[in-house]
Amino acid sequence: MQQATTAEILNDGKAVALHLPDGPLRFHAVWLRDNAWDDRTRAPGNGQRLITLGDIPADCRIVSAAPEGGKLMVRFAHEDRAIPYDIGWLRANAYDRSADRRPGWTAPGIETWDAGLNSAIPTGDFTALKTGGRALRDWLAAMRRYGFAKITGGPVQDGALFEVADLFGYVRETNYGRHFEVRTEVNPTNLAYTGLGLQAHTDNPYRDPVPTVQILYCLESSAAGGENMVVDGFRAAERLREESPRGFDLLTRYCARFEYAGSGGVCLRSRRPMIELAPDGELVAIRFNNRSAAAITDVPYDDMADYYAAYRRFGELIDDTAMEVTFRLNPGESFVVDNTRVLHARKGYSGSGTRWLQGCYADKDGLLSTLAAMELAEERAA
Ligand code: FE2
Repeated sequence: MQQATTAEILNDGKAVALHLPDGPLRFHAVWLRDNAWDDRTRAPGNGQRLITLGDIPADCRIVSAAPEGGKLMVRFAHEDRAIPYDIGWLRANAYDRSADRRPGWTAPGIETWDAGLNSAIPTGDFTALKTGGRALRDWLAAMRRYGFAKITGGPVQDGALFEVADLFGYVRETNYGRHFEVRTEVNPTNLAYTGLGLQAHTDNPYRDPVPTVQILYCLESSAAGGENMVVDGFRAAERLREESPRGFDLLTRYCARFEYAGSGGVCLRSRRPMIELAPDGELVAIRFNNRSAAAITDVPYDDMADYYAAYRRFGELIDDTAMEVTFRLNPGESFVVDNTRVLHARKGYSGSGTRWLQGCYADKDGLLSTLAAMELAEERAA
């Protein structure tokens, strides 16, 4: 027999335990009062909070709490009314759980990957994505899950990459312009130069904040080689943590430094870790770029040798072919990466022909917002 939901006042009204069929969830009185959704606490319409914490007494106490239908009706000592709380909302926003998580944990819905993803590269069709709806929702969800996705079937047209940005947000302009050209005329008399590949990297770690999304869009691709490659920096960080907890700890605990001063009037500098964790250990960002790494001066002498060993090993894991997802972009095709997570690289190319890509930056918060708003609208329609 399923047990009924009941409520029990704890600690002289400082908290309440909501006894649900699958177990109890505790909530503090001050937390509950701050998170009321009635129209005196939240503005109808935009849902923004109308009160400050100063409007709630520091000794806020619950005098009664009782489930009624799908609501928990709560009375506070300082207010002569019952405030309804949606039990589904309380369950979804509960914080009464063990916080014992291993440093480097990733948010639910993040799936780390390696070369195995070569057989299932997340891809959307440009025309379908432009119509929005499920195709766009699924493509954005793949971006959130994997940190990268391809788009095929786009126009072969100068500036088409802006239409990709328009799918989910806005271009972030930088000192490189609103967009940048990645164009090389392959000259057979100068193959040594043109054969250069680039080690997998995240872009612009010298910015704070870094560009959180990068779009690379192919307009010409008649040269042999020049494949694009992506690596999941989160998976590389997980592997480093498995192999060397100390190395992982060093790369998360100390800041590296990055700098770009390659053109007049520009001197971008940042001081951030290569593997960034939130204060509670969540893996939030990777910064890795040999070309713009500055002198690392924030690691104590006694840790520097081990720090460099960890930095070297992290690079080896990133370079490991078992980590690579490789694809060739044809004209009208593009790929988008979460630049806080996924590293990208270009393989060397040679022979005659041209390779022309256009790139630009956008922001992940806009992308996630577009997705979340679509999901919310779907939920409400259901
Ligand atoms: Fe790059």
